[in-house]
Amino acid sequence: MRDIVSPESARWRRFVDSFELIVGVAGYELVIPPLLEDIGVFNRLGEATDVVTKEMYDFVDKGERHVALRPEQTASICRSFVQHRPTTPFKAWYSGPNFRYEKPQRGRYRQFDQVGVEVLGSLDPYVDIEVVQLGWSFLASLGLSRVELAINSLGEPDDRARYVAALNAYFLERTNELSPESQQTLTRNPLRVLDSKRSEDAAVIADAPLINSFWSDTAAAHFSTVCDGLTAVGVPYTIDLKLVRGLDYYRGTTFEFRGGTLDSAQNALGGGGRYDGLVADLGGPETPGVGFAIGLERTLLACDDEGVFPAADQSADVFVVDVCGGSVALEICTELRSLGIRTERSWDDRSMKSQMKSANRSGARFAVIIGEDEDQSDTAVIRDLRSDAEQVSVSRSNLAPTLKSRLSSLQGAV
Ligand code: HAM
Repeated sequence: MRDIVSPESARWRRFVDSFELIVGVAGYELVIPPLLEDIGVFNRLGEATDVVTKEMYDFVDKGERHVALRPEQTASICRSFVQHRPTTPFKAWYSGPNFRYEKPQRGRYRQFDQVGVEVLGSLDPYVDIEVVQLGWSFLASLGLSRVELAINSLGEPDDRARYVAALNAYFLERTNELSPESQQTLTRNPLRVLDSKRSEDAAVIADAPLINSFWSDTAAAHFSTVCDGLTAVGVPYTIDLKLVRGLDYYRGTTFEFRGGTLDSAQNALGGGGRYDGLVADLGGPETPGVGFAIGLERTLLACDDEGVFPAADQSADVFVVDVCGGSVALEICTELRSLGIRTERSWDDRSMKSQMKSANRSGARFAVIIGEDEDQSDTAVIRDLRSDAEQVSVSRSNLAPTLKSRLSSLQGAV
């Protein structure tokens, strides 16, 4: 688990702000679920998933309750829905940390952040389209251009069950050709064997049966509407009939946003799909659901690789140098900051030379200097720290308007 320090911390904020902008105009409401829930909430993610069997941070609390740090937020949103029963369709967005006891590596951490949306209460394929389109638009809004969208359908529950049985039979026949890891996976969840990236499994996986032969007419029609809708709104996608996702609750549409620059084991920037049975599993009424989550760290790695969405320059606009005790700097900082000008100062009554050094180091564009003369004549000196222009003296009442106009003309020139 890591500290996120400046300037990366500010970039995280901006990432979530950008997400909020996009989902906010589409009518999604923020839900903030707790970090810790009863373990029962997460057991529904699947007894056959690593997330539940191997990676959960769970413990018994002082009240003898078996609880866990959330490994994701879809189950929490559904649990919250069951508890509060908002009107449907219920459109929620969220952000925040999740915890999985994984082997940490680039793009895979034990504490990681996600942004996501969930829509509860509609089977309409146009919800799937809206959700996928939101994820796509968000990634595009960051400036990413090497993202690929893979999409599939796991069919209706019966289709999925028949497919899993067929897949199991097929892999069992060729079990000797599978890697020992995949042989293990097969005993728990045949679908997940399709996810193996091991070269020894590739040939067996290549000939495996495909889900589309198992789709019911309803599932096929739903999927075809989703694909047509994505085409209509200009979201490019590839159908990947072997896309199965790591969590057991998926039914019908599943999808993944893959970063073009990352290692294939960690290239899923985000993913999601339908989970029409989860709310009922958690004790609520039969309520369909669809959503996605995008991993913040991985997506920022992809941004770095593509040279987009850089950390913003957080340097000050103005640095106030006051060699008369510091009270004038207090007044000037108060005035300039109230106008939204990023203003810094130094402390401890340091010398002019030392304060000028700090001013230069701060990255500020202008230094405002208050020496004895300025203090007595109620003036201030403005020095441009990034050009050779003559410094100017202005009256204190003119200081803020002058700085404001000089800063905005500089911004206009960018
Ligand atoms: P997930 O595929 O487990 O889905 O996670 C979504 C994204 O979270 C991944 O694509 C990845 O970017 C990020 N992520 C997952 N684990 C880690 C990790 N250990 N380190 C860094 N990033 C990670 C879900 O969580 C579902 N709740 C998505 C969903 C929402 N399905 C329907 N609604």
